[in-house]
Amino acid sequence: MSSSSRDGFTSTFGVLVATLGSAVGLGNIWKFPYLTGTNGGASFLLVYIIATLLVGLPVMITEIMLGRASRANAITTFEKLAPKNQKAWKLVGYMGVAAAVLILSFYTEVAGWVFAYIFKALSGQLGSTDPAHTKAVFGELVANPQSALIWQWLVLGFTGAIVMCGVSKGIEVVSKKLMPVLFLLLIALCIRSLTLPGAMQGLEFLFTPDFSKINAAVILTAVGLAFFKLSIGMGTMLTYGSYFRAEQNIPLTATRVMFADLTVSLLAGMAIFPAVFAFGFEPAAGPSLVFITIPAVFHSMPGGSIFMALFFILTAIAATGAILSILEVPVAMLIERRNWSRKKATAISILTIALVGVPAALSQSLTASWKLFGMNAFDLFDYISSNILMPVGGILICLFAGWSYGLPKLKEALSNGGTLNNPALIKVLFILLRYVAPLLIVIILLNGFGLI
Ligand code: PHE
Repeated sequence: MSSSSRDGFTSTFGVLVATLGSAVGLGNIWKFPYLTGTNGGASFLLVYIIATLLVGLPVMITEIMLGRASRANAITTFEKLAPKNQKAWKLVGYMGVAAAVLILSFYTEVAGWVFAYIFKALSGQLGSTDPAHTKAVFGELVANPQSALIWQWLVLGFTGAIVMCGVSKGIEVVSKKLMPVLFLLLIALCIRSLTLPGAMQGLEFLFTPDFSKINAAVILTAVGLAFFKLSIGMGTMLTYGSYFRAEQNIPLTATRVMFADLTVSLLAGMAIFPAVFAFGFEPAAGPSLVFITIPAVFHSMPGGSIFMALFFILTAIAATGAILSILEVPVAMLIERRNWSRKKATAISILTIALVGVPAALSQSLTASWKLFGMNAFDLFDYISSNILMPVGGILICLFAGWSYGLPKLKEALSNGGTLNNPALIKVLFILLRYVAPLLIVIILLNGFGLI
């Protein structure tokens, strides 16, 4: 496909909401709260923010830049931008596509539960203040192989249909409509939660650090979350970058997305923890916090079933935007490298994900006994992608930009050919990419795995 006929985002606002739509997802509403809950609250939040600033933001800016400079999918980008004698860089692209499939195979499963929960909330099935009851409802959903698979397939079909419509007519149009709704719902939920008697305790939990909780594993988890949150290290931001407009200010857009994404996580934390504490629930419930604790919490408050339904609609919106962006990684690759139509590329991608997703979807039923390193398929896919593939992809992207692509080209690409001039900032970014970020990630990875 020639670059002139290549699809792309059509406006500055479109770029911003689509990129934010990728960053905001289950990571903010499902992962961030439960990880904060189980890793010591505010101290974890602090490490996560530092990781986001020192490592996350530089990698995000670089990925978008590389994508826009090549105007191609994750694999072709490295082929185009790397010197002829450094062909191996394209393996980073292959790794990204593999990570995208792996992430989607569990992510669409969680999204499936969220969609199912909208109906459960509306039909009153979650109407109990007793977590034992909501636990039973959740258990029934995930332990039933048919419902686990069907909800995952519905999500794949729904998001696949949007991706089939294209980047500007599908992804951008849907993001523009959904993102404002997401913010409105989130703010409404926050106000509800913060005005409950006893809400302060939840805020204290979120904002008072307990440094004794910080250890190597917690730091690795925080870095993994920073990668997962900003959709980096596996080609998503690179692919979206390839649709950025030529005049878009990349560092500014990335910084805005990072702050908006952090705001959504904090708002989600402020919607969840005050309510959890106000009704005396357990903040460290783990991955099921959103599916077991939250329904019981909502049912404890006046107007609870409406707020519960709104909560799951909001979460479904967030998940949808993120899935579109992950799906676009293999889809763009197949369209451009195989010359397939968008329809065919999307259909083959979602079929592959549905297949790889089977063990993850059934990990609470038929494949529950399939364990590797003590983890079932669902947890393993999550662990491998967030804690290994994305950070390693991040290191390689930094090394590529810092050592192979080089400062002059980086300057040229980030200043939009000299129209935006910020040499000092670019210098700082370059030092972070060349030395600080890769070294930090390596140390954290080795340390997290107990190797140093
Ligand atoms: N950032 C998304 C979230 O927080 C997840 C995601 C990961 C999206 C990787 C794209 C790529 O839910």
